[in-house]
Amino acid sequence: MSGMIAPSILSADFGKLYEEIDMINQSEADWFHVDVMDGVFVPNISFGFPVMKPLQAKAQKTLDVHLMIVDPDRYTKAFADAGAHVLTVHVEACTHLHRTLTNIRNHGMKAGVAINPHTPVESIKEVLDLCDVVCLMSVNPGFGGQSFIENTYQKVRTLRAMITAAGTSTLIEIDGGVSLTNAKLLTDAGADVLVAGNTVFGSANPTQTIAELKQLIK
Ligand code: DX5
Ligand code: ZN
Repeated sequence: MSGMIAPSILSADFGKLYEEIDMINQSEADWFHVDVMDGVFVPNISFGFPVMKPLQAKAQKTLDVHLMIVDPDRYTKAFADAGAHVLTVHVEACTHLHRTLTNIRNHGMKAGVAINPHTPVESIKEVLDLCDVVCLMSVNPGFGGQSFIENTYQKVRTLRAMITAAGTSTLIEIDGGVSLTNAKLLTDAGADVLVAGNTVFGSANPTQTIAELKQLIK
């Protein structure tokens, strides 16, 4: 399978959100990455359901919702109703992760777990069979445009070995600081989905940058 690209709409221009959504629809991108932040789990507040609405109405690709919020179980149904296809929670924000992931799947969504840079990938070993996606944070979550943390490569390799050993079809997603320089190294290490915010939306031609990323990882 060739690698997937998930532009992060956190870095989009919200003054022209419909155009940005349309650009991703027309591009070679695979998923929409949607960063929801509560100002408690992370030191930033992004957006919530008012932005899910236009996405649900206009986006023609998988809506990959990354919840950077405490106690995410409160909103599982609401995000299912809002059109999320993948719902990712943070291992650091879940006391009963097994229950949370089961609940996400029971609401008809793919279940994802995100892991902060300081958290070992082994922390999710016992629930790997419930993870459709594991999102390795390659920056400390909260903001777009930060620099990539280099030890992520090792975490990708460890996680890939865990997935192979467990025989699951879990996808490995990388989130934060993905660039034209590290994209191929990440997929070579075993990543499946690369989130890209600043690299796409900070470029002169986002559609072409998405095509370049896809070309690098095919
Ligand atoms: C960070 C978010 C990321 C962010 C990535 O907390 O989870 O998805 O939008 O942005 P870049 O690609 O600019 O690092
Ligand atoms: Zn994210």
